[in-house]
Amino acid sequence: MRLPAPSWTFWSTALLFTTPTTAFLPLRTRQAEDIAAAFDWASITPTPDLQYHPCYDTFQCARLRVPLDWSKEAGSNASSFSSSSPGPYAAIAIVTLPATVPVTDPAYAGPILINPGGPAGSGTDMALGLATVMQGLVDVPGVRHYDLLGFDPRGVRLSTPSGSCYASQFNRAMDAVALRGMPTALSEQGLQMRFGMNRAVGELCDGDVFRHLSTASVARDMLEIVDRSHELVVKAKGAAGSNSTASACGGNGEKPRLQYMGFSYGTFLGNTFASMFPGRVGRMLVDGVVDGADYTAGTWEKNIGDADASVDIFYRTCFDSEASCPLRQSSDTSFTDIRTRVDALLSSLREAPVMTVYNDRVYTMTSYLLGEKIRTSLYAPIQNYEPLAISLAEALVGNFSSILADQVVMGFDLPSSVCTESSASDPADPPQEYNFASEVSRGIICGDSQASAGERDLAWAADTVARITNQSSTIGEAWTNIPLACADWPFTPPYAFAGPFGSKAPDNSSNTPAAPLLILSTKTDHATPLENAYSLSRLHEGSSVAMVDAVGHCALLATTSSCIYGIVQEYFHTGKVPVNGTVCEAECVPEIPFKACPGLP
Ligand SMILES: *[C@@H]1O[C@H](CO)[C@@H](O)[C@H](O)[C@H]1NC(C)=O
Ligand SMILES: *[C@@H]1O[C@H](CO)[C@@H](O)[C@H](O)[C@H]1NC(C)=O
Ligand SMILES: *[C@@H]1O[C@H](CO)[C@@H](O)[C@H](O)[C@H]1NC(C)=O
Ligand SMILES: *[C@@H]1O[C@H](CO)[C@@H](O)[C@H](O)[C@H]1NC(C)=O
Ligand SMILES: *[C@@H]1O[C@H](CO)[C@@H](O)[C@H](O)[C@H]1NC(C)=O
Ligand SMILES: *[C@@H]1O[C@H](CO)[C@@H](O)[C@H](O)[C@H]1NC(C)=O
Repeated sequence: MRLPAPSWTFWSTALLFTTPTTAFLPLRTRQAEDIAAAFDWASITPTPDLQYHPCYDTFQCARLRVPLDWSKEAGSNASSFSSSSPGPYAAIAIVTLPATVPVTDPAYAGPILINPGGPAGSGTDMALGLATVMQGLVDVPGVRHYDLLGFDPRGVRLSTPSGSCYASQFNRAMDAVALRGMPTALSEQGLQMRFGMNRAVGELCDGDVFRHLSTASVARDMLEIVDRSHELVVKAKGAAGSNSTASACGGNGEKPRLQYMGFSYGTFLGNTFASMFPGRVGRMLVDGVVDGADYTAGTWEKNIGDADASVDIFYRTCFDSEASCPLRQSSDTSFTDIRTRVDALLSSLREAPVMTVYNDRVYTMTSYLLGEKIRTSLYAPIQNYEPLAISLAEALVGNFSSILADQVVMGFDLPSSVCTESSASDPADPPQEYNFASEVSRGIICGDSQASAGERDLAWAADTVARITNQSSTIGEAWTNIPLACADWPFTPPYAFAGPFGSKAPDNSSNTPAAPLLILSTKTDHATPLENAYSLSRLHEGSSVAMVDAVGHCALLATTSSCIYGIVQEYFHTGKVPVNGTVCEAECVPEIPFKACPGLP
């Protein structure tokens, strides 16, 4: 089965296993703003039961009320919670593409929850952009029909309260500019400045919100979504006087189970859920795996091990493209000649940043920005190799325009967004714009590692930078920005889970998953290496890794592969996983010049 062309506008960048300072700003594209405008989220009153409202033509929207602090709830790790308690709450924004059959139909198979990664990626955006495609992938006509349910994790996008630290977009942009002009983290002064700035940003965030953004809380919220969704189905069936269900989750009086697809950071969310609530797992597909122990320890050592290999595939592709690659010179005898030139530019910018004019402003062009351009391009090689080659070729002759124009790299869209202050709205209402992803991301990452990372002081920062830059000469420096965001992070989540991660083999009991985990990866991923997929499989008994022979981030996103699609459909249908270590061919490879991949944009 082939995926129809997805609408990437809404969600592709949400898949970045992001840095806190360069997260998902392209979500603030025109289209994303239209999404917020096209439905009046403030008109929905958050409720502890799931109350859907028609929205966006074919979708159903809801705001589910959950306790802000799950540690204060009795039965917080069971399924008995049913809150209308007046305490502080979060309202989780949900966008669901309903199944193509009514819930009373025997082929109705329940909701599949999705998470696009980040952390801080928006599941509602992903649902609006991709739910139709995903439904086409998992549905078996006449036999199984799923709802596709996207939700914004607490703090994210349309969920409230917002995980935002700045009251003004102008101030946010000014601080982003300041950070990007700082000396390299590899210098003593640059490290001190970056450490100090990140520590100070922590002071801007509201602990009453930021203490409650842990992934464990989001996992518990997902359980709530599962239970409340099931309740709706039971009600509808009661009304229709029917009992039957094709769902993997909760027929026969069993507690309803989660069906889930998580990408990138979403694999950590899935791992957390499966480890906290193994008996509530129905189906769990994770793609592009984060190492849970490394992430919760705040060490970030299990990410960029394959990054230089990934960069080399880019240089090889360029070299093999001969004159079609603007970065290749006729005198080059190997792809390493190209790498040497780019590395020399990185070193030179590290020694001495270049002041340059772009778009009527003076910018500081740093090695960090160049590394960040490469790092962010590697997520989606098919789409990004050609523009990256052009950008680097221009950079080598001193033209940094396209890097400075790149909102993902710069972390903000200075010309337009600073001049249009969003009108002050009620903080209880979902915000129109999502311009605070880097702050939520920081809150989730730093909170998740708060208990186990130890004291994150300047000495820790120096050690972190040394370790991570040692892993990749090209993108190591850019990657250090992620852990450095947690400098002196002040908030400890009261409801947290830092392991042990893992689950037992399915044994038809209510204490084990209904099916083993299906774990996907590409072969060469610069952010979540294949090795993480295997180590996750060792923790979850019976699980299997299927790999697509491709470069990029996440098997289902980096390329197309009918072999992977077949595995995914079979898994959701029967719960069967392929032989551990199965390798699938990719149908497309990245090329320079860009060649479209049918099924990918
Ligand atoms: C889950 O419940 C058990 C027993 O009620 C309790 O001991 C444990 O602390 C709870 N865990 C969390 C994360 O709340
Ligand atoms: C629903 O299930 C219950 C218990 O399994 C059974 O007694 C009842 O007849 C069923 N109702 C219908 C309409 O199938
Ligand atoms: C720099 O690159 C941009 C495209 O990225 C191009 O439009 C511009 O003409 C270039 N400037 C110079 C001076 O070559
Ligand atoms: C750098 O990496 C090498 C091997 O890849 C390792 O032997 C060395 O200990 C590392 N150095 C640091 C500071 O992590
Ligand atoms: C679970 O139940 C199914 C259907 O009854 C059976 O085929 C399967 O062997 C059982 N699995 C285990 C591990 O007991
Ligand atoms: C899957 O294969 C990997 C690599 O061979 C291995 O380490 C892992 O234990 C296997 N997983 C399972 C669940 O057997």
